[in-house]
Order: sequence, then C-alpha cells, then structure tokens
Amino acid sequence: MDSFLRFLCLTLILLAVCMDYHCADANEDQGSRLRGLWMLSMKDLKQKKKGIPHPEPIRELVKQQLLYCNVGIGYHLQIQSNGTIRGVHEPNEHCFLKVFAMMRGVVGIRGIKSGLYLCMSQDGLAHGAVHFSSDCLFNERLEENHYTTFSSLSHPDIYLALSHKGEAKRGTGVGKHRPFTHFLPRRA
Ligand SMILES: *[C@@H]1O[C@H](CO)[C@@H](O)[C@H](O)[C@H]1NC(C)=O
Repeated sequence: MDSFLRFLCLTLILLAVCMDYHCADANEDQGSRLRGLWMLSMKDLKQKKKGIPHPEPIRELVKQQLLYCNVGIGYHLQIQSNGTIRGVHEPNEHCFLKVFAMMRGVVGIRGIKSGLYLCMSQDGLAHGAVHFSSDCLFNERLEENHYTTFSSLSHPDIYLALSHKGEAKRGTGVGKHRPFTHFLPRRA
C-alpha cells in the first residue's frame, strides 16, 4: 500500500512537470509567432509611411535595356531628367532603362541617366519620379504578338502608351490590343 501511494505520488509529480513543460513550450511558440507578426506589421507600417525608399528587386533581368514602341515611325521610350516621358526614334542616353522584377510578373523601370522611376498616375499620365511608390509598379506581360505591355499595378487597365508622334499617351482606355501599348524590350 505504501509503495502504491509512492508510485501514485511520483506519477502525479511527473505528470505535473510534464504539463508545465508543454505549456511553456506552447507559450514560447505563440510568443515568437506574435513577435513575428508584430515585426511584419511594423515593417508594413514603415513602408506605408515612407513609400518604399529602396526597392529591392528579387532578381535583376538585364543591366540596361531599351523599350521600343511599335507605333508611328517607331520610338524608344525615354525618361528625361525633368520627369517627362516620351519616345524618340533614334535612342539617346535617356533611353537606357533598368527593368527590375519586384514580384512575379511585376516590374519597376528606372532611367539610368535621370535616375527617375517610371510611374503612372491615377489619370493615366506617365511621369518620372524621384521616389519609388506603388504607382511605379507595372504588370509586365508578354502578349500573343510577342510584344510586351506594361499596365499599372495600382491602377488597373491603365497602360504605358506612346502616341504616333512619340509623346506619352494617356494610358486610360487604350487597352492591350493597340500598337501604342506594344513594347519590344531590346538589350542595349
Ligand atoms: C523636359 O525636358 C525636355 C528635354 O530637355 C524638354 O524638351 C521639355 O520641354 C521639358 N519639359 C518640361 C515640362 O519642362
């Protein structure tokens, strides 16, 4: 009887220690999960506050390239130093662009000479901006005709487009089937 009580006591103690251990383990687990979530939300908040200061591409495509638009006599997209976007037939120094992937199928475009990011406003006007923001994210899509279109990620159905004269064309209501929106990436 005595030994049975001792056995019971030992079992209860073991059980208590065991449960305590498991609880601590679970607490720590939840704690680190909460910390992780908190850090994520802080990061998110910081990015929202400041815009995205230094976009970090997940992979580099090519060092520099030209974007040729198949409209009119054919134009190379340029980002001028005052932020004007327009096409020019013969490529110049403002036509060299860095196209970098931010997510799968989503790119940012930066003029190498001007250092400006190509961005799209809500009213469909393309411009060069010093700071990278969500306006500067484009869906890059290879169309059936082998041309590439760039549509704004934040403003759906707004396309990067050039007019027959090579000027930036308002990107609303142009659609992906018109030549104004068809670009051919060319290695420079
Ligand atoms: C921007 O710069 C270009 C080239 O220097 C010039 O032709 C154009 O008029 C300028 N645009 C504005 C809005 O200042």
